[in-house]
Amino acid sequence: MTDLDMKIQKLARLILEAKNIVVLTGAGMSTESGIADFRSPGTGLWEKVDPYEFGSVSSYVANTGKNLNFMLEMGKHIFSARPNKGHKALTKLQKLGKLKGILTQNIDGLHIRAKSKNVIELHGTALEAICMRCNKVVPITVMVNKFLSGSSPSCEQCNGLLKPNAIFFGEPLRSEVLQQADELIEGCDLFIILGSSLLVYPVAFYPRKALSMGAKLAIINIQETDVDDDAEIVIHQKIGDILPQIIEIVEKKILENKKK
Ligand SMILES: NC(=O)c1ccc[n+]([C@@H]2O[C@H](COP(=O)([O-])OP(=O)(O)OC[C@H]3O[C@@H](n4cnc5c(N)ncnc54)[C@H](O)[C@@H]3O)[C@@H](O)[C@H]2O)c1
Ligand SMILES: [Zn+2]
Repeated sequence: MTDLDMKIQKLARLILEAKNIVVLTGAGMSTESGIADFRSPGTGLWEKVDPYEFGSVSSYVANTGKNLNFMLEMGKHIFSARPNKGHKALTKLQKLGKLKGILTQNIDGLHIRAKSKNVIELHGTALEAICMRCNKVVPITVMVNKFLSGSSPSCEQCNGLLKPNAIFFGEPLRSEVLQQADELIEGCDLFIILGSSLLVYPVAFYPRKALSMGAKLAIINIQETDVDDDAEIVIHQKIGDILPQIIEIVEKKILENKKK
């Protein structure tokens, strides 16, 4: 058995033993759906654009057209993306009764499209727009159609400026979302991190929070992270190559145990 096979078996065993599993996902969860992450060497978006030029509230208000053009470029990939093997494996794990919920930093809606339940979208969603004045939420297509037809992307209710309903740089996360995340992590006994550099706060705190609750940590991420040393198991591979194998082992074992 190779070292990797042993890790796969070990993570399957940890999942089978756990009673309260929470998964945290980042942009690496969706790269296999064709959506670039921010920090992968060579392909990450931050090698191509200055994060402070786009995606902060002040730059959006000052240069709405320029920001929206850039966001539409990124959005195209999001709108045409489909859930990948990794998203589907998580949905399967949940159907097996082994996954309480998913905390995601992603704004692409792919966990929900893969029919996972109890998905907390910490950074909001790119599939909606919100009015910066009255907080009315509309489908993103309403905003995009206005912009592409040359009219101002403004709210039909109050004429305020619409923005994608995703958290921009410098914006705080919504308190109700933070509370839901805290509740999900409370009592968790296995915390699985998939495809996140863990460099963005408050998500970067969550692994330590889970550890302090007595949870074990498992990580599948191509690159190293700062919490690798605290994890029970770390696999530096692609999620889509590894996670479906693990969930298959878990499913087999559960079915075997049912027959006994
Ligand atoms: N899909 C999306 O919605 C999307 C895309 C880009 C950025 N973002 C936003 O970017 C911020 C960046 O933080 P982050 O930690 O989520 O992303 P990040 O770009 O900082 O880190 C992604 C990590 O995933 C790893 N990775 C990439 N592809 C992988 C794969 N197939 N299998 C396993 N690991 C893989 C990389 O090695 C990297 O460490 C988040 O706030 C998120 O909202 C979201
Ligand atoms: Zn409004």
